[in-house]
Amino acid sequence: MTPDHPTWHAAELRKQLAEDLARAGHVRSAEWRAAVESVPRQEFIPEFFAKIDRIDGPTLWDPISAERSGDDRWLEVVYEDISHVTQLDGKTTAADVVEAVDGNPTSSSTMPSLVVQMWEDLEVVDGNRVLEIGTGTGYSTALGCHRLGEDNITSVEVDPQVAARAGRALGRAGYRPHLVVGDGEAGSPDRAPYDRIIATCSFRYVPSAWLEQSKPGTIILVTLSGWIGGTGLVKLTVTGDRTAEGQFLPGYVSFMSARAHNPEPAIIPNLSEGSGSRETELGPEVLTAYGPAQLVAQLAVPEAQHINFGPGGDLPEHLLVQPDESYAALSGTAANWTVEQGGPHRLWDQVETALAGWRQAGEPDIETFHVTVKPGEQQVQIPGGPSWRLPSGGETGSQSGLGRLQVTPHTDRCPGTDG
Ligand SMILES: C[S@@+](CC[C@H](N)C(=O)[O-])C[C@H]1O[C@@H](n2cnc3c(N)ncnc32)[C@H](O)[C@@H]1O
Repeated sequence: MTPDHPTWHAAELRKQLAEDLARAGHVRSAEWRAAVESVPRQEFIPEFFAKIDRIDGPTLWDPISAERSGDDRWLEVVYEDISHVTQLDGKTTAADVVEAVDGNPTSSSTMPSLVVQMWEDLEVVDGNRVLEIGTGTGYSTALGCHRLGEDNITSVEVDPQVAARAGRALGRAGYRPHLVVGDGEAGSPDRAPYDRIIATCSFRYVPSAWLEQSKPGTIILVTLSGWIGGTGLVKLTVTGDRTAEGQFLPGYVSFMSARAHNPEPAIIPNLSEGSGSRETELGPEVLTAYGPAQLVAQLAVPEAQHINFGPGGDLPEHLLVQPDESYAALSGTAANWTVEQGGPHRLWDQVETALAGWRQAGEPDIETFHVTVKPGEQQVQIPGGPSWRLPSGGETGSQSGLGRLQVTPHTDRCPGTDG
């Protein structure tokens, strides 16, 4: 139950948030500013987790609620422009625990600046029918209801418990949009076609059902991500029958992955069967540092996962590995890296070729990367440079089980911190 709190205090905090978002350029229109000023975020996150980073162990998540932190402090944190994690490991909520726990974020209330910036980027006009993928807490859904009317909003959430909580929160805030429990990859055909589609979880490719549930002119906003950590928000316009094209938008946007788009635990092949090591000019920063180079590396080896074992152990510091047991093992120091490759594909050669093409094209930033979607083929093209096919549906990370050691990779960024 949401605790009592001075209504005026929440209203003041909302007003301040809207002001800050407008000043920073995230809110660009009076309509979305009014939505931020009206939607009570506290109804959507009565409890959540605060992140505790640690050097000597996994990140911990501290349960936060009005009861624990005091009404005023809790309310202030609710209205901070940060993402609040609301579920770990597909089950645990902050109401389930009494002290900090570890776990992997699986649902959150995305930071308001990103939510409202995406709504602005979607360029809605009155009467638009919107399909949202990833209801989460329902906060972004509520903003959409305020702007377009609840009957124009359909939102899909894969997790039944999360969806039920969002439905209750939306009801408390006075909104009754069309809520669907299911895999957002299938869209929601019942209320198609949509004028706009917006995803607040990330995908490795654009689900074909969304194209089928669109019409010419439909705008689709989705974060494309992968298993190396490359990520970026893409804005597509539907051009015809199941075709769309568009660009990555500027800036860093990271969302937790749609659940079916997460990789299976990586299987480490026998690393002694490699082709011998050689020097490489590329260091592991192309795998670890967010930016166009990381995205290009990911596009070059879309089935590969990156595992950072760290220095000083028996295993290579960085490993790229994919289900057919192709691998590239990087060892060395900041000035001098060597790579050893094994399996049917030379993953590091592919990364080096892709990065060389990107460099020859003048190292363009991601907002110049062009995306085309056609039946059976999705492609990212850099201007004056190479292009790569995105993985397609059905090619997600099922593994052969032939390997020797299973590892669930941890990335340097925590998924869900941003969205
Ligand atoms: C970052 S949260 C969404 C934030 C939300 N828009 C908000 O404002 O609170 C991502 C949500 O996507 C959901 N999700 C993951 N995979 C999904 C899928 N395949 N279909 C629909 N929802 C999915 C997760 O359960 C999670 O609740």
